[in-house]
Amino acid sequence: MQTTIFCLIMIIIFKDSQCLLPPKFQWKTIDFAWEGNAREAALKSGAYIPEHNMPTGIERWKDKLFVTIPRWKRGVPASLNYIYLNGSQSQPLNPYPSWGEAFVSKAACCISANSTVVSTFRVHVDRCDRLWVVDNGVADMTRELRQVTPPAILVFDLNTDKLVHRYEIKDELLRDSSVLTSIVVDTVGKGCEDVFAYIPDMGSNALLVYSLAQREAWRVEHHYFHFDPHAAVYKVGGVDFNWSDGVSSAVLSPTRKASGFRELYFHPTSSTKQFRMSTKFLRDKNVPQDNIFSGVEVVGERGAKSQATACDLDPNSNVMFYTQLSKNGVSCWNMDKPLTEENVPLIISDCTVLEFPSDIKVDHGGNLWILSNRQSRFIYESMDFSQVNFRILTAPVKTIIQDTPCEKLSTMGRALSFIRPKSNKKSLNNSTATSC
Ligand SMILES: *[C@@H]1O[C@H](CO)[C@@H](O)[C@H](O)[C@H]1NC(C)=O
Ligand SMILES: *[C@@H]1O[C@H](CO)[C@@H](O)[C@H](O)[C@H]1NC(C)=O
Ligand SMILES: *[C@@H]1O[C@H](CO)[C@@H](O)[C@H](O)[C@H]1NC(C)=O
Ligand SMILES: *[C@@H]1O[C@H](CO)[C@@H](O)[C@H](O)[C@H]1NC(C)=O
Ligand SMILES: *[C@@H]1O[C@H](CO)[C@@H](O)[C@H](O)[C@H]1NC(C)=O
Repeated sequence: MQTTIFCLIMIIIFKDSQCLLPPKFQWKTIDFAWEGNAREAALKSGAYIPEHNMPTGIERWKDKLFVTIPRWKRGVPASLNYIYLNGSQSQPLNPYPSWGEAFVSKAACCISANSTVVSTFRVHVDRCDRLWVVDNGVADMTRELRQVTPPAILVFDLNTDKLVHRYEIKDELLRDSSVLTSIVVDTVGKGCEDVFAYIPDMGSNALLVYSLAQREAWRVEHHYFHFDPHAAVYKVGGVDFNWSDGVSSAVLSPTRKASGFRELYFHPTSSTKQFRMSTKFLRDKNVPQDNIFSGVEVVGERGAKSQATACDLDPNSNVMFYTQLSKNGVSCWNMDKPLTEENVPLIISDCTVLEFPSDIKVDHGGNLWILSNRQSRFIYESMDFSQVNFRILTAPVKTIIQDTPCEKLSTMGRALSFIRPKSNKKSLNNSTATSC
């Protein structure tokens, strides 16, 4: 309700601003754009069990919005999918790049094409119009885990919808507990070939680094990739659970002109701290472990109950956005300010609409996209499929941060912010967050 009021006020004040509510897309259950009578056949064979499909990731490219569904349970016909921005609110998902390539049947022994994605959580579009996917290769993660294909990195050319690259991740880089939850892409210089991908292994507390130019991957470990036992207890959607999750998402700062390196900002999911390290320690596989150990910095502490599954950066305003699991919302941090609790305010929150925010992205047009999916009910209890469970919300970043402490600072404001970090600008307080 808070959010509705907040949005109404925003509409009144900024008549032409787009409100965050209502959701742009929403579903009770996920359905697909089947061909012919394939739907009936898939329902019959168990290749499609509607209630077992829960999206966890989104990414926008031009008129498409990618929606990913990990193969958590049985009955997910396609993990990598897209919808049309101009399509209806509850439109069916289109498997990517096509039905033939994306479909994985109930008892599939192996992939039907090199472009088949078996199970992915989150994807990334780079500035060269390529879609980067990290495929865990597994089916039925929660019951009878089946490795359909080895984990792999897949790269699609979005202009032709063709697979342009596939790299299988070697066993020695993985552990039994490995779960590859997202992928961040670091294009070096002006071209599109000198590229590194950083892949958080949330399950075994590592970052995998992949060099496209060298066609080689390596594993980086650090104590700061581990969860914080003080931030492992959750209650979301009325469900109590404990998670010891490591790093699930990370973001790159813009390239530093002088050095050519960037900073990788990352945080374990079960943690309230923010860390960063220079890509200088990641891009070279021969960096000594000691240098990596001293190379990670603690940037700051976001405050109690600020655990985030995902984050993304708007390079234009230099604002980072975090999904806020325990507060059913989104917080932001203007990176020109020190990272302190006051500088990471909760700016949107809604117990229903934003129950379990799972992914957040800023697209190339400066719009924020948020996916919420009621994940705790899906995993630990049961979902009520007569209600809306999955929602995708969007609004321009500019509108979202307007009049919040994250709004872009003038040069003077930036200088002053270090002297006066306190801000009296609008942010939602704890009562909104804890009233769920
Ligand atoms: C939506 O966009 C797609 C792709 O750009 C186009 O083919 C389709 O005709 C559009 N649909 C509507 C209803 O405008
Ligand atoms: C995948 O690509 C490799 C190398 O090009 C090829 O040998 C193999 O047959 C392909 N696999 C499938 C399932 O298409
Ligand atoms: C989570 O951990 C806390 C403290 O260790 C414990 O008291 C609680 O029972 C656990 N909750 C669940 C759902 O496992
Ligand atoms: C929110 O609650 C936490 C502890 O629960 C407290 O430390 C913090 O100061 C509160 N923040 C606001 C904005 O009230
Ligand atoms: C928190 O928000 C509620 C409802 O908007 C308001 O009544 C209360 O005064 C606020 N508390 C603080 C400490 O700002």
